[in-house]
Amino acid sequence: MYTGSMYESMKKVEAARAANTAFEPRRMTAEEKDRLLETYHPDYKKSEFSTLKIGANAGEKVPHELAALLQANPRIRADQIDLSKIDYDVDVLIIGGGGAGASAAIEADNNGAKTMIVTKLRIGDANTMMAEGGIQAADKPNDSPAIHYIDAFGGGHFAAKPELLYKLVNEAPEAIQWLSSLGVEFDKAPDGTMITTHGGGTSRKRMHAARDYSGAEIMRTLRDEVLNRGIPVVDFTSAIELILDENGRCAGAVLMNMETREILIARAKTVILATGGAGRLHYQGFPTSNHYGATADGLILGYRAGAKLLYADTLQYHPTGAAYPEQIFGALVTEKVRSLGAKLVNVNGEVFMHPLETRDVSAASIIRECSDRGNGVKTVDGVGVWLDTPMIEIKGGEGTIEKRIPAMMRMFAKYGIDIRKEPILVYPTLHYQNGGLDITPDGMTGVENLFAAGEVVGGIHGRNRLMGNSLLDVIVFGRNAGKSASEKSKSVECGKLTLAHLEKFAEEMRSAGIETDVQSPKLLPVYTHGNPDFTKAAF
Ligand code: FUM
Repeated sequence: MYTGSMYESMKKVEAARAANTAFEPRRMTAEEKDRLLETYHPDYKKSEFSTLKIGANAGEKVPHELAALLQANPRIRADQIDLSKIDYDVDVLIIGGGGAGASAAIEADNNGAKTMIVTKLRIGDANTMMAEGGIQAADKPNDSPAIHYIDAFGGGHFAAKPELLYKLVNEAPEAIQWLSSLGVEFDKAPDGTMITTHGGGTSRKRMHAARDYSGAEIMRTLRDEVLNRGIPVVDFTSAIELILDENGRCAGAVLMNMETREILIARAKTVILATGGAGRLHYQGFPTSNHYGATADGLILGYRAGAKLLYADTLQYHPTGAAYPEQIFGALVTEKVRSLGAKLVNVNGEVFMHPLETRDVSAASIIRECSDRGNGVKTVDGVGVWLDTPMIEIKGGEGTIEKRIPAMMRMFAKYGIDIRKEPILVYPTLHYQNGGLDITPDGMTGVENLFAAGEVVGGIHGRNRLMGNSLLDVIVFGRNAGKSASEKSKSVECGKLTLAHLEKFAEEMRSAGIETDVQSPKLLPVYTHGNPDFTKAAF
């Protein structure tokens, strides 16, 4: 399958592997990591960020692509929307049909709330479904939530909101039990104990997985639970604006049917934004591992309604996106591949870094190898480094790949690459937004009665997230938001519905001299002639 210079380089990888299978490079020092990040990590590229002129984070930097959408025009004119015609009237409205939205719906339903999910595609069309490697929880005798906290706090550059991270790690073991009780089939040893592995930056093996389709297994289970309970799911319908009441509290959303473009009004005592991430904005031109609908909608809706963002300037570039073949460019190659023993190797066959540094450090190291050091492997129209997958069989024994990472094996086999015998080419891919809406531990944003959960939230992980803590936050904070929002709804009387915040935002734009024809939320990406267009709306 590999040809020309790729093949020549692969031969060097094979020779180096045969000469020294045991070589394990040392981990970087804190100073080395800092220097590496400042020079090579995309978050540190100042020219790629704009300063927001308006809104709750005015004066702060965010990526250009996000700034263009945050400081854009709504899709509707407030004076053309009839808020007296209510199409849906519920206690808890959940916007987003991924893992966080589904978890929230189950708990809100448990609490007796009239709950509804609205999603622009279908329930389960979300990053949760695409998660591969696993979910962290400190539930083994040699581990504890305190150790989990220290790993995640350090990995996130000590920037996580302590009260959120505390909740995340402490509620992790129960989250695993909850998922198991709903029917998630985690990998287990013959004696019934959970099989756990390391991820980058973990000091204990606490990654619980279902092979390498952990997210699909979790999402399948949550989706079944939502549907079996008869919780209404309005699909192919996007939320295009939040509705407040006359007292400035969130009280619903303006919805748009994605097929007919019919406008619908949902009134709700509380609203949960669970809209996921932003990989489809392709920050800095990176490919993405994200779901098709990951276009930062929740950030836009929340920001326009007055909510504050936290760390919206920090993104996660997963170190190992597929760099070859082109058909799967940017697709996720799970970190589990490295935790099972695959090493990162350059064009000359040299292992150039420890395989389980934290993600930001690993991504920056690969970018350095391929740029200034000139040690990347040229692909058809890009560059990458080798991920030496045959090491997994050497370390774990024949059959390990098929048993533990069958999805990876299948993904590459489609293109004639047998990862048991040949290494694969990888390069960082846009994977996760570390930042998002700022919330309190009960999940509420800065706008009263507007809650948020999942990837749309910022601050749980600080400025870098460890593997497996996202599936975890989706469950812990999804459930949390469902409980809090349903409880709060019991004491809420919605006031008169209004879209006055849109006029206020427009006035702020005018005063700041912002003129733009961009409309947001974006809803779906636009790919014209192969190039993503960040400013155009598909709808
Ligand atoms: O590499 C992975 O499997 C991704 C996991 C995550 O983002 O948590």
